[in-house]
Amino acid sequence: MKVLLTGNKGLLGTGITPFLKDRFDVVGLDIDEWDITDRESGEAIIARERPDALINCAAMTDVDGCEDRKELAEKVNSGGAAILAGICNRYNVKLIHISTDYVFDGTKGLPYNEEDAPNPLSFYGKTKLWGEQHVLAKAPLSIIIRGQWLYGDGGEHFISKVVKAAGERGSIQVVDDQRGSPTYAKDIAGPLAVLIEKGEPGIYHVSNSGSCTWYELAREVFSVLRMDVQVAPISSQTLNRKAVRPAYSVFDTKKVRDATGIVMRSWQEALREYLRKGPTPE
Ligand SMILES: NC(=O)c1ccc[n+]([C@@H]2O[C@H](COP(=O)([O-])OP(=O)(O)OC[C@H]3O[C@@H](n4cnc5c(N)ncnc54)[C@H](OP(=O)(O)O)[C@@H]3O)[C@@H](O)[C@H]2O)c1
Repeated sequence: MKVLLTGNKGLLGTGITPFLKDRFDVVGLDIDEWDITDRESGEAIIARERPDALINCAAMTDVDGCEDRKELAEKVNSGGAAILAGICNRYNVKLIHISTDYVFDGTKGLPYNEEDAPNPLSFYGKTKLWGEQHVLAKAPLSIIIRGQWLYGDGGEHFISKVVKAAGERGSIQVVDDQRGSPTYAKDIAGPLAVLIEKGEPGIYHVSNSGSCTWYELAREVFSVLRMDVQVAPISSQTLNRKAVRPAYSVFDTKKVRDATGIVMRSWQEALREYLRKGPTPE
């Protein structure tokens, strides 16, 4: 099977590509080769490559930046997804589109399943939800994978940032009122590969199992690394970031487990593997 992947130099693209290559003929392209907002070049690339499937990892993911650059955020996350869906539908290419837990408002208090109504709090979340809606409307046979709290080797993320900050300052403050499931980007590859091959169309929630707050995650990181760092819990209000994040965005992952037979490992186990081989602060 030939699989095209957009945004391949990003965190998720970097994490999943080596594993997908064991199974598929993968062609990865980043923004300099394929800007997903450019309909003509997208059409030309699909016509040239004739893939069986397209994984869209391209997105504007700077959550606070999306509040400042709304036009660009909408163009990439919503408009780009719509363009890809239209092309995939015309060329009979199976689209696997990546979305986010930030489509939820975090008030449910129980793990979110795929039937729960989205209600994004941030402009990033809104644009990602619009992207999902375009995908389902224009290419109804598509698969949407919602991920969350990703880390891995492909760039900056929470873990690389706290390790770097702690190394510089010896003490850090971390929010303790947002709960989710840290997810090793490469762990998305297993279920994604099965869904490409035999997944029913629709939305799937994929994350490592268990949950924690960002504060608890930071504590676990320093404990595994045996770093003596003072970590102080603070509230989101104190941090006062531009975009509001959901207080609780843990996923119910039963649907993907039933569909793929894959039981996602715990966030602690995945984190230990990642840290054992050495985090990659930028
Ligand atoms: N990171 C997380 O914690 C997280 C959580 C939930 C869901 N997700 C979703 O997972 C997917 C992948 O995210 P990620 O964490 O891998 O983000 P990322 O590291 O920012 O990667 C996104 C990639 O897309 C590229 N890109 C931006 N605009 C583009 C355009 N117009 N055309 C083509 N490529 C473009 C970026 O290039 P530049 O770097 O040059 O801009 C980057 O290489 C996204 O859909 C995101 O919403 C991520």
